[in-house]
Amino acid sequence: MLSVLLALLHAGLAFALTSSLQQVTNFGSNPTNVGMYVYKPTTVASKPAVIVAIHYCTGTAQAYFSGTQYAQYADTYGFIVIYPSSPWSGTCWDVSSKATLTHNGGGDSNAIANMVAYAINTYGADSSRIFVTGSSSGAMMTNVMAATYPNLFKAATVYSGVAAGCFVSSSGGVDAWNSTCAQGQSTATSAQWASVVRNMYPGYTGSYPAIQEYHGTADTTLLPPNLAEEVKEWAGIFGYNAAAPTQVLQNNPANSYTKSIYGPNLQGISGAGVGHTVPVMVPEDLKWFGITPGGAGGSSSSASGGGGTTTVKSTTAASSTTPAPPTGSQAAHWDQCGGQGWTGATSCVAPYTCTSLNPYYSQCL
Ligand SMILES: *[C@@H]1O[C@H](CO)[C@@H](O)[C@H](O)[C@H]1NC(C)=O
Repeated sequence: MLSVLLALLHAGLAFALTSSLQQVTNFGSNPTNVGMYVYKPTTVASKPAVIVAIHYCTGTAQAYFSGTQYAQYADTYGFIVIYPSSPWSGTCWDVSSKATLTHNGGGDSNAIANMVAYAINTYGADSSRIFVTGSSSGAMMTNVMAATYPNLFKAATVYSGVAAGCFVSSSGGVDAWNSTCAQGQSTATSAQWASVVRNMYPGYTGSYPAIQEYHGTADTTLLPPNLAEEVKEWAGIFGYNAAAPTQVLQNNPANSYTKSIYGPNLQGISGAGVGHTVPVMVPEDLKWFGITPGGAGGSSSSASGGGGTTTVKSTTAASSTTPAPPTGSQAAHWDQCGGQGWTGATSCVAPYTCTSLNPYYSQCL
């Protein structure tokens, strides 16, 4: 079913882009043989930002390129997208070995960091505007990248992952599954998680990327308690109280999602009734990254946070950031078109079809 959806997405997208996905084979040291694929729009901004977009288990760079909107927005805003491709059978990421859980440890995380260095050197990318995101196994890897290479990334968004170091293999297994963590039974305090993170890059004293953690309450693959552990982990790093968000915004950034803000660098976003596939909300990512205005991560702590200059929304401005279009009009490609509580348009402009992703969210695909 997922492959059918991705095929549909691919068919819908292929005509729209100014450029195409290209493989880069010589990006630097790559002991685990991770693939590097790049989308560089025809018109690249000067000193472009870079988004590293990391695929889910069973996925590929090509599938994540086709199934998300990063490339479309790259055409509009001139940033570059790197899609790493996992080398492992089953194509999950190695988020369990000591090598990948260590800064410059020679694992998958090291290869992805080398792709970023390549992009900075080769494309003249802005080293202060490098971002990372991913879904599922790619979300786990996003947390791992934030922990092992905090120096590289300004901000991150995580769609259905687990805390960095949660999927560790006690026997040193590479690309190992960890049921304890998946089932939401690996719990620790903020202080304990923070030391797990710090131990991945011993001696590092710089800043860590501003991070948004998305998770569905109906996730049966990586159980919902993982959201709280991710939040505890980064709250420990940023010195926030994971038990006391400073703001809780209902129906934000979409219907049935609740956004808890713990400080300028950390948000936990819980989708009520949403399963393991949290729809990737690229426009929200772009705001968090400061590529578009409307709520850059880290912006209220310093002018340079998250890459932008806008402020985190206040409670009063906080309803939904994706307001329903007037009833009767048709929803555009990618827009929401249904789901519990949805009062906006339920049909899509041609040639798109309103596709139910879960009981709470349908999208024009
Ligand atoms: C699974 O991860 C937890 C930490 O989340 C760790 O304590 C445990 O040893 C791991 N299990 C295996 C079998 O490696």
